[in-house]
Amino acid sequence: MSRIIEARGLNKVYRRGSEEIHALNDVDFTLEEGKFVSIIGPSGSGKTALLNMLGCLDTPSSGSLKLIGTETSGLEERDLVRLRRDNIGFVFQQFYLMPTLTARENIELPLLFSKKKGQRDRIDGVLEMVGLSDRGDHLPSQLSGGEMQRVAIGRALINDPRIILADEPTGNLDSSTSQLIFELFRGLNRQGMTLVVVTHNLELARQANVMYTLRDGRIAGCRDLSGRQDTQDSRGAASRAA
Ligand SMILES: Nc1ncnc2c1ncn2[C@@H]1O[C@H](COP(=O)(O)OP(=O)(O)OP(=O)(O)O)[C@@H](O)[C@H]1O
Ligand SMILES: [Mg+2]
Repeated sequence: MSRIIEARGLNKVYRRGSEEIHALNDVDFTLEEGKFVSIIGPSGSGKTALLNMLGCLDTPSSGSLKLIGTETSGLEERDLVRLRRDNIGFVFQQFYLMPTLTARENIELPLLFSKKKGQRDRIDGVLEMVGLSDRGDHLPSQLSGGEMQRVAIGRALINDPRIILADEPTGNLDSSTSQLIFELFRGLNRQGMTLVVVTHNLELARQANVMYTLRDGRIAGCRDLSGRQDTQDSRGAASRAA
């Protein structure tokens, strides 16, 4: 398996006035292609900071980060943007959908930025992957929270990324809807997608292949869960309404 992300000695220091906040302290993190990794930890432990570094939404204060074999530390913003756009799909707690666009149009949006407009078949395929084939023409206000997050996941998938990074994707959803979203992630992972998902919810985090625990900006634990009993059946999860 190839190493799709390789981070060594990542540090992130935020400055607030004269105060220095060490959000990440000497973090090593490797991600093998095809894995589903969860990151758990108390509020303020650095989960979002780490995810933002891994996705090149923010730059580390020091350390090295290789993404798909490319060292990112010396890259110009333009190259960083391209690396991010071509390889990473992001999902957030607040779905960040455009309220005036339908589900289908929201999913299509990244194609406009990458100048690949159209591709009707591809949009239909993604709508099906996220279980929204019959909701394509609905506006976000006509969708449930779980359905809105599915649209956001579809939007993350449309550029065919190598990795999905999700920060508290179920933070605004009830527990059964959250479970369905995780089943969707597991289904995507079975189809070969690499995922890193931050969550507060231990029960959900344990459904990944590997679970990292962050504490005070450090990796406090890493558990390989791939040998666990696989009792959840995620087939067909996408077709159940969320
Ligand atoms: N832009 C910023 N400026 C200053 N401090 C920041 C900034 N972003 C994050 N921090 C601080 O860095 C630390 C790590 O924050 P981070 O957002 O990564 O935590 P988290 O684990 O995602 O927490 P939560 O579970 O509440 O989302 C916290 O102490 C936070 O206050
Ligand atoms: Mg956070």
